Amino acid sequence: MFAIHSKVRFSVSLLALVFVCLMFLPEADAQTGNFARIGERACLSCHNRPAVTPLFETDHASRADSRSPYNDHDCESCHGASPEHRRTTSMPTAVVFEGSVVFPVSTAEQQNAVCLSCHESGQRTHWMNSEHQFAELSCISCHDIHQSNDPVLSRATQPAVCIGCHLEKQSQFRQRSHHPVLEGLLACSDCHNPHGSVTQNLLAGNTVAEACFGCHAEKRGPFLWEHEPVTDNCTTCHNPHGSVVDRLLSTRMPFLCQDCHQDAFHPSSLYSGDGLPPLGAAQQLLGQACLNCHSQIHGSNHPSGSRFTR
Ligand code: HEC
Ligand code: HEC
Ligand code: HEC
Ligand code: HEC
Ligand code: HEC
Ligand code: HEC
Ligand code: HEC
Ligand code: HEC
Ligand code: HEC
Ligand code: HEC
Repeated sequence: MFAIHSKVRFSVSLLALVFVCLMFLPEADAQTGNFARIGERACLSCHNRPAVTPLFETDHASRADSRSPYNDHDCESCHGASPEHRRTTSMPTAVVFEGSVVFPVSTAEQQNAVCLSCHESGQRTHWMNSEHQFAELSCISCHDIHQSNDPVLSRATQPAVCIGCHLEKQSQFRQRSHHPVLEGLLACSDCHNPHGSVTQNLLAGNTVAEACFGCHAEKRGPFLWEHEPVTDNCTTCHNPHGSVVDRLLSTRMPFLCQDCHQDAFHPSSLYSGDGLPPLGAAQQLLGQACLNCHSQIHGSNHPSGSRFTR
């Protein structure tokens, strides 16, 4: 009885010993190419830390997804085969950064090549030659791979990431009239594609107006009577981020209109601000100014709406 027991125990410990040996065999024997055969375990013996492990809750650690790094060489799918580094026992600066342990030390171009090897299509189609690529940003200037909730992906936390570099946008979004971005109701990426676009200013959509129609569809028309600047570019009259004038207007009424309409018909006079009607200031200046009558300023479908009055 005792004998059998100890035999079993012996073979169990032998198995365990073989297993442990396999784990710590010299790298030359335990590799696929230069990659560690034991995947993440080759790294976690030293890196099982809170700065690293939230990655396990993300899509990148999904073995079920055949496209995921974890279907390949785990950590090394991103960090590159790192045989010298795996064997290191001290600060590994000298050995590591020759093509392995790519993040966060190599150049932006080298880092981005890794991410783009899986993510070149879709939103990233125009990454090359985009303003951000040109400014040598790397994907991880915005993305945080080792966090379970990458802040740049959610409306509430994205503005802080962008504003970290585009500080002047913070004050624009704090002006009296503004899109509710700092309030978390819409994100920079509702209007911009930070990965690159075919339009100016990294705008999402083929034209400026297309960046707006997703939410302001009623401004798309088609209108029987179109107002040229509206079909041309919304930002002729609106500051998209924020403005000190109501309705995000770039200039106060009626000056906004008089920028373009000076010599036609009644608006030809430059209205003064003195006095009150009927003796003083014209009604073109009060309240909605020109909009008192030209209320359909984005276009009209009324048969006699050619002057946008109905
Ligand atoms: C024998 C221990 C050990 C093993 C195994 C190990 N590392 Fe490291 N690694 C270190 C040490 C020590 C540092 C430097 C101090 C630190 O950042 O924790 C480091 C740093 C890093 C860094 C940060 C470099 C920097 O400049 O900030 C990365 C990335 C990294 N390791 C990835 C890996 C990957 C991927 C694996 C598995 C292939 C791995 N390590 C395996 C010990 C190890
Ligand atoms: C999807 C690609 C990807 C995978 C998979 C990945 N990493 Fe990373 N890792 C990165 C990037 C990118 C950084 C740079 C820091 C950042 O912004 O997230 C990084 C940073 C690190 C750092 C330095 C973190 C610090 O702040 O000290 C360590 C250590 C590290 N990774 C280890 C690992 C280990 C261990 C694994 C596997 C369990 C792993 N990584 C899997 C992309 C990856
Ligand atoms: C081996 C392929 C591979 C590599 C390398 C890779 N990813 Fe991914 N990534 C995936 C897969 C697969 C998904 C999940 C499916 C999807 O969303 O398309 C994903 C998802 C993402 C997501 C969306 C996460 C979410 O919660 O919606 C982001 C952002 C991302 N990756 C950024 C990066 C960045 C930045 C790098 C470089 C540091 C990188 N990836 C490297 C395959 C990869
Ligand atoms: C300037 C900041 C910024 C940079 C740089 C950046 N991203 Fe993104 N990324 C974002 C934002 C913001 C989103 C969310 C987009 C949305 O909500 O439509 C996102 C979303 C993603 C997604 C998930 C959505 C999707 O299309 O599946 C992936 C994957 C991704 N980025 C990969 C990358 C890669 C790869 C790079 C580097 C070539 C990169 N990103 C560089 C800001 C950035
Ligand atoms: C409602 C849509 C919208 C939102 C939301 C938005 N933008 Fe813009 N952004 C635009 C448009 C449209 C332009 C082009 C401006 C022009 O042509 O005058 C622009 C231009 C820019 C420019 C270049 C020109 C300039 O004004 O400096 C930067 C940088 C920019 N946006 C950053 C941001 C950041 C950062 C956020 C989020 C904090 C953001 N934008 C949110 C629509 C938007
Ligand atoms: C690491 C710093 C950094 C971060 C983070 C960043 N940007 Fe940029 N961005 C730049 C630089 C640098 C440029 C190019 C120089 C410039 O035009 O300001 C640029 C350019 C732009 C432009 C084009 C400006 C133009 O004149 O055409 C837009 C739009 C923009 N960024 C939006 C965003 C948005 C949206 C985010 C967040 C998702 C973001 N950026 C995050 C640094 C950053
Ligand atoms: C993702 C959705 C979204 C996009 C895209 C968008 N907007 Fe808006 N817009 C809003 C929301 C939400 C409000 C706030 C409505 C409110 O406060 O009641 C708003 C309000 C406005 C206002 C009125 C502000 C006021 O004080 O009443 C104007 C003007 C405006 N947007 C113009 C634009 C222009 C121009 C674009 C394109 C550059 C654009 N929007 C793109 C969602 C969007
Ligand atoms: C010729 C100048 C001009 C142009 C160009 C223009 N707008 Fe306006 N917009 C105005 C004025 C003036 C108001 C204020 C109307 C009011 O207070 O009744 C306004 C108000 C708005 C409002 C808020 C009130 C409402 O009617 O819903 C939105 C949203 C809006 N514009 C979106 C757009 C979009 C989207 C575009 C581009 C397709 C655009 N605007 C182009 C002048 C313009
Ligand atoms: C960027 C220049 C620009 C701005 C700003 C502008 N308009 Fe116009 N507007 C035009 C052009 C161009 C036409 C077409 C002129 C034509 O057909 O002779 C037009 C046509 C009109 C018409 C019809 C006139 C006609 O002859 O058919 C009216 C009414 C009008 N605008 C009112 C306004 C009002 C009110 C504002 C201020 C909210 C305004 N516009 C702002 C450029 C502008
Ligand atoms: C009291 C109402 C009223 C106000 C306020 C008003 N308009 Fe008019 N506007 C009209 C009428 C009525 C017409 C002529 C319509 C017609 O003939 O069909 C007209 C015509 C126009 C035309 C077309 C002129 C032409 O030569 O065909 C323009 C441009 C115009 N207005 C611009 C403005 C501007 C700019 C303002 C503000 C400074 C303004 N209007 C304020 C009522 C008004």
